[in-house]
Amino acid sequence: MSTEQTDMSTEQTATANASANGGGTAAETLSVTDNRTGKTYELPVTDGTLRAMDLRQIKTGEDDFGLMAYDPAYMNTASCRSAITYVDGEAGILQHRGYSIEQLCEHSSYLEVAYLLINGALPTQDQLDKWVYEITIHTFVHENVKDFMQGFRYDANPMGMLVASVGALSTFYPDANKINDEQIRAIQIIRLLAKMPTLAAFAFRHNMGQPYVYPDNDLAYPGNFLGMMYKMTELKYKPDPRLERALDVLFILHADHEQNASTSAVRSVGSTRVDPYSAVAAGVAALYGPLHGGANEQALRMLRRIESPRNIPDFLEGVKAGRERLMGFGHRVYKNYDPRARIIKKHLDAVFEVRGTSPLLDIATELEKQALDDEYFTQRKLFPNVDFYSGLIYEALGLPVAMFPVMFAIGRTSGWIAQWLEMVQDPEQKIARPRQIYTGERDREYVPIADRQSTSVAP
Ligand code: CMC
Repeated sequence: MSTEQTDMSTEQTATANASANGGGTAAETLSVTDNRTGKTYELPVTDGTLRAMDLRQIKTGEDDFGLMAYDPAYMNTASCRSAITYVDGEAGILQHRGYSIEQLCEHSSYLEVAYLLINGALPTQDQLDKWVYEITIHTFVHENVKDFMQGFRYDANPMGMLVASVGALSTFYPDANKINDEQIRAIQIIRLLAKMPTLAAFAFRHNMGQPYVYPDNDLAYPGNFLGMMYKMTELKYKPDPRLERALDVLFILHADHEQNASTSAVRSVGSTRVDPYSAVAAGVAALYGPLHGGANEQALRMLRRIESPRNIPDFLEGVKAGRERLMGFGHRVYKNYDPRARIIKKHLDAVFEVRGTSPLLDIATELEKQALDDEYFTQRKLFPNVDFYSGLIYEALGLPVAMFPVMFAIGRTSGWIAQWLEMVQDPEQKIARPRQIYTGERDREYVPIADRQSTSVAP
């Protein structure tokens, strides 16, 4: 920056309106000098963030649109203010509404955590009983839902079935689009939590070529899910309490993780004021991707492919050479051990006690050890994430890999709902509509088809 520009700018300082921005004090500002014009701007800093809209006033002239922030993949953009989940990625801390994930996994049930996420406080016993009762009596889906699920191809991917069926629920509850009505919202929230396991289990049974099993309202949330998945000819399904607890903890561990890809999808689609079933369907679709909820499936496939601990060094060489990716490792936010991976590891034993151990556990443990001893991974702060070990539990429960992201989706439903609810009640939120930097052609003369030259077009 030249001295001339700095001198000029003193007189031409434009100060952004702090009060319109939730109030930054004089000391909490950022002075920005635009070297194109020499003007200096003082921008309020609130909660360690700048308002991107405050950049818009920085212009080279009247016709200039104003400065924008370019942030593909939202690497450094806060899209909302949220009081639901706190993550400190450097320290490996995860808290929901202020409670640590470790305490919640130790003392709470999944439905209690869902209540906490959605309502902001832990329930009293009466509140919890009513909440659990309401969810329990809404577990059935309309018979038509079952009928259309039966129309899927015999080997349809259960995640694809889940995207479609949860979205289709909006057609059964047309009132759901009245999202400003608190009572109507409340009943959709109950329905989503209650019916997600039913849809997931139906998708599983369909994929297995087995008859669908109706919910059993005598069972708790995870036990009922296990029943809908595994009940065969027995009159009453009795879940093993160790498996039930492990599954409940897995649901808690996946319940929310602030503004991850699927939650952002739910918020983004929800910002159009569409009904919550459609918004949640967008979340399930985002979770389907191998870099998000599909990572546990990929992690297990990777362990199977490695086959034996002696193949690990070769595999890691392939990762470092860029031929492979170590699935279940790395995280956009955690630059330390993912606390969820640590908790899952503890519950592996209980599941293996019931189901017998898996040879893949030895591979996973050794792979983790060797990766954490290797500079490539330590320098990049790549640690196991929630997906590294969860697949081993799902496999021990007898689930095919295609069901892994479905399990994730059941747990994440509470987080999606909590975030959706927060978003629709936030007066600052509008329809999500990012800007772009246009890089294409402009003002071309239209060419009649007979005169066009063929050009190679990427698919
Ligand atoms: N294996 C090997 N190298 C990796 C990995 C990995 N799993 N993850 C990141 N890196 C490398 C990456 O190549 C890059 O190296 P360089 O600096 O030499 O180019 C560096 O680490 C930074 O990675 P990045 O891709 O810029 O990080 P990101 O924040 O964009 O990606 C991630 C985060 C989770 C997509 C990525 O770590 C990844 O692909 N992990 C494997 C998939 C996975 O386990 N996903 C589950 C995430 S947790 C649950 C969930 O959110 O669903």
